[in-house]
Amino acid sequence: MVAVVPGRLPLLGHTLSLLRKPLPFLASLPAHGEVVRIFLGPMPVYLVTSPELALRLLAVEADKFDKGIVFDKMRPLFGDGLATSNGEFNQRQRRMVLPAFARGRVAAYAENTITGLAQELADSWRDGQQVAVDALMQDVVLTIAGRTLFAADLGAEVLAEIQRSIPIMLQNVLIRAFSPRLVEKLPIPGNRRFDEAAARLRAVIPPAIMNARRQGGDHGDLLSVFLAARDEETGAAMTDEQIQDEVVTILTTGAETTSVALTWFFHELASNPEIERRFHAELDEVLAGHPVTFADLPKLQYTQQIVNEVLRRTPPIILMRRARQEVELGGVRIPAGAEVAVSQHTLHRDPRWFPDPDRFDPDRWTPERMAALPKGAYIPFGAGARYCPGAFLAQTEIAIVAATIGARWRLVPVPGKRVYAKVKATMQLNQLPMTVHSR
Ligand code: HEM
Repeated sequence: MVAVVPGRLPLLGHTLSLLRKPLPFLASLPAHGEVVRIFLGPMPVYLVTSPELALRLLAVEADKFDKGIVFDKMRPLFGDGLATSNGEFNQRQRRMVLPAFARGRVAAYAENTITGLAQELADSWRDGQQVAVDALMQDVVLTIAGRTLFAADLGAEVLAEIQRSIPIMLQNVLIRAFSPRLVEKLPIPGNRRFDEAAARLRAVIPPAIMNARRQGGDHGDLLSVFLAARDEETGAAMTDEQIQDEVVTILTTGAETTSVALTWFFHELASNPEIERRFHAELDEVLAGHPVTFADLPKLQYTQQIVNEVLRRTPPIILMRRARQEVELGGVRIPAGAEVAVSQHTLHRDPRWFPDPDRFDPDRWTPERMAALPKGAYIPFGAGARYCPGAFLAQTEIAIVAATIGARWRLVPVPGKRVYAKVKATMQLNQLPMTVHSR
C-alpha cells in the first residue's frame, strides 16, 4: 500500500499545504515513503521521493511516461513544442532543436547579446537609486530571450510584443494548469488577459519567421538553426507552425525560470554578507576592471557555486508525468494513466546529501563535494529524455548578468519591505526592491 500524505482536505487535497507551506510540505514527503500519494485538488498524484526513483521516472524508464495533465492544459498555448509533445515526435523535434543550444552557439549568444544587454542594465543605474530587482531581471531576461531567438533586424515588433505579453501570460500560467477546464473558459479578467496576450504573441511571430525564411542564411540566432534543421530520417524541415510552437515554448519556459533564479541570486547575496564579500572579491580578482566575457566564466568558480546553490534551494517546484502503462516503482504498482511526479524541492532538501539543507551554502559545490553526490539528488534542470535544453544557456546567462552587475554595484534591500517566497510554476519572491550602491 502506498501512503497518502497526512493533511489531505476534502476537494482541496494537499493544494493548500503546497501553496501555504511549500518547503516544509515538500521536504516532509520522504518520511512517508519512497513513493507517496498526494492530491492536487481532487487529483491523486504518485510522488517519488528518492534520487534513484527520480532517475527511473525521468531517465531510465522515461519511455513509459508522457508529460501528463499540466502539459495537456498548456497545449493550447505551446502547441506541440518541446515541453508539451510526447514520444517519438518529441525526440525527433528535440534532435532538430538541440543544435541551437550547443556550446559554440551559446558562446556566440553570450558574446553578441548577453554581455551587452547586461552591461546596458548596469550602466543605466546611478548611485543610491532604488530599483525593482524582480521586474528588472524579468525584463533583461526577456530582452535576451527575444534577441537570441530573433536577430535584431528581424524582430523589433516581436521583441516589443514579447515584453508586453509574456509577463501577463506567466502570471496566469500555473493557475490555469491546475484549475478545472470549466474555469479556463470563464470570461473573468485573468482569463481574458491571458487569452489576449497569447493571441497577440502568436500573431506577431509568423511574419518574423516568413521574413527570416525569405532572407535565408545564418543570423546567429535560434531561429536560423530552427529554419536550417532537417529531420535525420525524412529530411523534412520544420513547418512554420512547429517553429512557432518552439518559439512560444522557449519564451514561456525559459524566461521565468531564469529571471527568478537571478532575483534569488541577489536576495541571497544580501542575506549572506560573507558570501557577498567573497563574490565581489572573486569578481575584482578575475575581471580586474574589464567587462565580463564568456571566456571568464570558468574562472568565476565561486560565482558558479552560488548559481548552483540558488538552483538547489529555489528550483522549479515539480516535474509531472503520466504513466502510459502499468509501472512498478519502489515496490508500488502504478496504474496506467496515473499522474506521477517528483519535486526538486524534496530531493534538494534531503539532509543525507545536503546537510543543514535550509542553509544557503555555496561551498557545497566544490568539485570534490559535487562528485560525492548520488546521481539524481540534484536535478534543477530535470534529467534524461526531457532534460532542459536551455540549461547551459541559462547558467551562462545568470552568471554573466550577476557578475556584470556585481562588478559595479552592491544591491542592498530597501528597509521595511516584506519580501517572501510564493509558489507559482517556480518558487518566486513577491517583490525585491533594492538600492544600488556603487562599489
Ligand atoms: C534557471 C533556468 C532554468 C531552469 C531551472 C529550467 C528547468 C527546466 C526543467 C526542470 C525542465 C524539465 C521539465 C520536465 O522534465 O518535465 C526544463 C525543460 C525545458 N526547458 Fe528549461 N530551465 C531553465 C531555463 C531554460 C531556458 C533558458 C530555456 C530556453 C531558452 C529552456 C527551455 C526548456 C524547454 C524547451 C524545455 C522542455 C524540454 C522537454 O520537455 O523535452 N529552459 N527546464
